[in-house]
Amino acid sequence: MKFDTPATTNPIDHLKVVGHPHDRIDGPLKTTGTAPYAYERHDVVAEPAYGYVLGAAIAKGRIARLDTSAAERAPGVIAVVTADNAGKLGKGNFNTARLLGGPEVEHYHQAIALVVAESFEQARSASTLVKVDYKAEPGVFDLRAARGSASPPEETAISGPPDTSVGSFASAFTEAPVTLDETYTTPDHSHAMMEPHATLAAWEGDALTVWTSNQMIAWATGDLAATLGIDRSKVRVVSPYIGGGFGGKLFLRADVLLAALGAKAAGRPVKVALQRPLIPNNTTHRPATIQRIRIGAERDGTITAIGHESWSGDLPGGGPETAVGQTRLLYAGANRMTAMRLAVLNLPEGNAMRAPGEAPGLMALEIAMDEMAEKLGMDPVEFRVRNDTQVDPEHPQRPFSSRPFVECLRLGAERFGWSRRDPRPARVREGNWLVGMGMAAAFRNNLLMKSGARVRLAGDGSLTVETDMTDIGTGSYTIIAQTAAEMTGLPIEKIAVHLGDSDYPVSAGSGGQFGANNATSGVFAACAKLREEVARRLGFNSEEAEFAGGQVRVGNRSVPIGEAAGEGEIVAEDAIEYGDLDKTYQQSTFGAHFVEAAVDVATGEARIRRMLAVCAAGRIINPKSARSQVIGAMTMGAGAALMEELAVDTRRGFFVNHDLAGYEVPVHADIPHQEVIFLDETDPISSPMKAKGVGELGICGVGAAVANALYNATGVRVRDYPITLDKYL
Ligand code: MOS
Repeated sequence: MKFDTPATTNPIDHLKVVGHPHDRIDGPLKTTGTAPYAYERHDVVAEPAYGYVLGAAIAKGRIARLDTSAAERAPGVIAVVTADNAGKLGKGNFNTARLLGGPEVEHYHQAIALVVAESFEQARSASTLVKVDYKAEPGVFDLRAARGSASPPEETAISGPPDTSVGSFASAFTEAPVTLDETYTTPDHSHAMMEPHATLAAWEGDALTVWTSNQMIAWATGDLAATLGIDRSKVRVVSPYIGGGFGGKLFLRADVLLAALGAKAAGRPVKVALQRPLIPNNTTHRPATIQRIRIGAERDGTITAIGHESWSGDLPGGGPETAVGQTRLLYAGANRMTAMRLAVLNLPEGNAMRAPGEAPGLMALEIAMDEMAEKLGMDPVEFRVRNDTQVDPEHPQRPFSSRPFVECLRLGAERFGWSRRDPRPARVREGNWLVGMGMAAAFRNNLLMKSGARVRLAGDGSLTVETDMTDIGTGSYTIIAQTAAEMTGLPIEKIAVHLGDSDYPVSAGSGGQFGANNATSGVFAACAKLREEVARRLGFNSEEAEFAGGQVRVGNRSVPIGEAAGEGEIVAEDAIEYGDLDKTYQQSTFGAHFVEAAVDVATGEARIRRMLAVCAAGRIINPKSARSQVIGAMTMGAGAALMEELAVDTRRGFFVNHDLAGYEVPVHADIPHQEVIFLDETDPISSPMKAKGVGELGICGVGAAVANALYNATGVRVRDYPITLDKYL
């Protein structure tokens, strides 16, 4: 189904199931511990061998000698896989460094060996017997030091051009009566998902099946086939349940490749989980940024010049953190410039983490907006309202498909009690606590991706949906069931949803908050096709047929929908494909975050007291799971503001705090009260569902809202995240 004109009234608009809060249909499996995760697939392979990954102990250089003989003789060891015996490996589309290193080492903890043994303990024990001599080479590990050598990154569809410019930024900034020129930094972040990367691999002849934990089935399938040098049709990737991803599982990672190679070497199925201490350095992370922001405005608050430059680093061949993205779209201003610069760093591979670009970009921009409002003597909400735009400010002929940004700001201010905020910092004290309020804009783009699905209707009126869409804890199962229920008129209990299998039609997958809108639109398309076939078989005009209560009805003739399938089943498959609507219109999601926070005057300890998010993201398919997405994202934003930081050893080139004890994330005690309000909105430009992404909008702006609340509380402006208590000294 081609979606190239704005959606008109369609069956989804009946909103019998869609648009209502619905419990997760997979909830019972999750809460009883019976949802099958990759490392626990006892149901498909009873006695796999265990693989243990050895990571490189240098950041850059070569392996001079690799001796596995003692490990091979150790009890229970079946095989040791290294680059020496793995055969020739190709390279997929989505990895910067190789997933099995050696003799060249590209980053610290790059996998260099897999020890396969009868038990996990035997594999772990034998891995200590692998002798490696390295010849280390000097590397570049410090973004601040490398900043001067950074250059414009290549333009890609995701990152856009490295530089943009409208009008004359330099002269407008010089002439502006009120100006700000500040630099902000954000550190490297780790996804810190609960479930580590894990895979069970089994060969049957030349055909490979991997049960794994991956957000993008089709990417993983293609990259696994390309890396192994086998035909894609010989690879099956299965990932029905995922214990969190946040972008860390968008790509094929070492667990998958090594499990496949280990299973081949061992001649039997092998399972591999990346040990927790490997994850920060072996997998991808959100790259650190240095961001310079300049804003010039008239005394009435009208922005006349806005400039945003961002520096980040990555391995050779890697990409930038696109932290200037939102500044190209969020505020008006006749004269503007943005620039991204990329330095070569020999740290582990940087890549997408929840709301890549906007999450760290808004952490900087929205402090700058707060600082600028203060310089202007304006309320921060009013300053943002003053500079709203209904068109893409770099391409004024492009309107936003919908942009209720001002509504989010105003509603948030009202619900949060913003009028009670004292704009003078450090004026509110309760005992030992200095208390403040802060706010920030939320912004994240809405991406359109082709997405396919297949539906099977059986004679008993049950429906099965099959798509390779994944559920990374987000609620995909449920919103897909809701969509199919709405389209077919079947009760949701009659709908089975099967996800995360490369045998199913290729979907958008889970990433970039594009999953929900695109995947349900693919299911919409398949169900629309099914409706036509059902109507045809029952002798109904499909335009007139009404699908409700398990029946298909025209006038006073009503037939159970299952009768169309008779003894067999009706199979309908289709994909949503998009035309140029997202080129004609800029599609984005908007919101506002409000935070109340307090700082202990003696210790500098910061505490969040209240958080409110107002989100405008088109139709909200399931307000219950969407709320969970947003509060989870707000929690991640609080972590970014207050504690999350991969500490770089700039001499040896690795992240030092490589476990969940050293890499701190928020716990319940850090998050006392969260509220989420969704604006009642539909976007007919986004898809037939009229929905947009929301899962990443929830993190966008949170860091700055916390930072601004802490400034309002203390009068100390911290521009380097995370805002830990030492920064008040
Ligand atoms: Mo998201 S960072 O695209 O999983």
